[in-house]
Amino acid sequence: MEKRTQIAILGAGIFVRTQYLPRLAEVSQLVLVKSIWSRTQESATGAVEIARKHFPEVECKWGDEGLDEIIRDDSIPAVAVVLAGQAQVDMSLRLLKAGKHVLQEKPAAASTTEIEMALSSYRALCASSPNKPIWAVAENYRFEPAFVECKKLLPDIGEMMNVQVIVEGSMNSSNPYFSSSWRRNFAGGFMLDMGVHFIAGLRMLVGCEITSVSATTTHVDLTLPPPDILSSSFQLDNGCSGVFVMIVSSKSPKIFWRVVGLKGTLQLERGSQDGRHGYLATLYGADGRSKSTFYSFNGVTEELKAFINDISNMTLKKESGYEAEPRCSYLEGARDVAVLEAMLESGHKCGEVVSVRKF
Ligand SMILES: *[C@@H]1O[C@H](CO)[C@@H](O)[C@H](O)[C@H]1NC(C)=O
Ligand SMILES: *[C@@H]1O[C@H](CO)[C@@H](O)[C@H](O)[C@H]1NC(C)=O
Repeated sequence: MEKRTQIAILGAGIFVRTQYLPRLAEVSQLVLVKSIWSRTQESATGAVEIARKHFPEVECKWGDEGLDEIIRDDSIPAVAVVLAGQAQVDMSLRLLKAGKHVLQEKPAAASTTEIEMALSSYRALCASSPNKPIWAVAENYRFEPAFVECKKLLPDIGEMMNVQVIVEGSMNSSNPYFSSSWRRNFAGGFMLDMGVHFIAGLRMLVGCEITSVSATTTHVDLTLPPPDILSSSFQLDNGCSGVFVMIVSSKSPKIFWRVVGLKGTLQLERGSQDGRHGYLATLYGADGRSKSTFYSFNGVTEELKAFINDISNMTLKKESGYEAEPRCSYLEGARDVAVLEAMLESGHKCGEVVSVRKF
């Protein structure tokens, strides 16, 4: 009997081909990709050809019939949903209702209205089914070793005074997602799709919630959907304030989080070392000295491992109330969307202070 957790992947786009398949291959001692589904046979076949190198038994599924086959297959306890942002919540709920555990790609939803509907459907189905299916959202930042390690240094900076998050992105025509049509037809566009990562990183580092925001949004680079620039101030529930700036496309990309405390400053900056991409974490101490450590990207793999471990643990301990990894819970993903939605709404209202919806 197959001991590994068997999963299906719904979606066969760039992210499945370039991230999910190679990262799942790295943990192929734990997981077996049993099938890949797409709306069209052509797209499913393309991804299956790539997957076959690591998972020779992978099956190609497409259309309504292929989807029904996956839903009815009891040997598949979990499904990764990696579809257009507009379609993910409905698909996830359909699978959860059929008893599958779901790892849905971010963003958790297109809006807080959709989140409320999603959460009430999910809570209702958990209340009525004995084995509560897991609904996880893949945002990976909460699993990045840099964030996990940096968070441990937070007590060293003493009382928190201020937080800055600056994101100068590089979403230009060389980027494979630049012409992605669903992101262009999505309210909030790249800002919401990319922004949830940076908010996830911010919320994780400071370890508290953003309560209100005031933002200005503009549209300057007309090759991108609006808005492409956002400058927001925000209030944290620990009393601190901060700024969040996001430029979707800049000529000299730079991304950092900086938490300033009474006794020191903690900074996490995107960069590379010895050809590996990742983050440089620096602690600036009260004595004027600093200490830096570089961490390579590993969040996607860590997150997949956590999800797969949850599935196998849950299958083993059916009776007891097993708590799934909170870092990829749907609720965490929902909270990131709520912060960005508040910033975008404030931008629409010329900087009016907007409270962040609490989930
Ligand atoms: C897009 O951004 C990347 C990273 O900054 C850069 O290397 C590349 O030259 C840019 N491409 C265009 C068309 O501007
Ligand atoms: C879940 O499983 C992993 C490995 O399978 C194990 O290391 C971990 O301790 C388990 N967690 C719980 C809460 O049982």
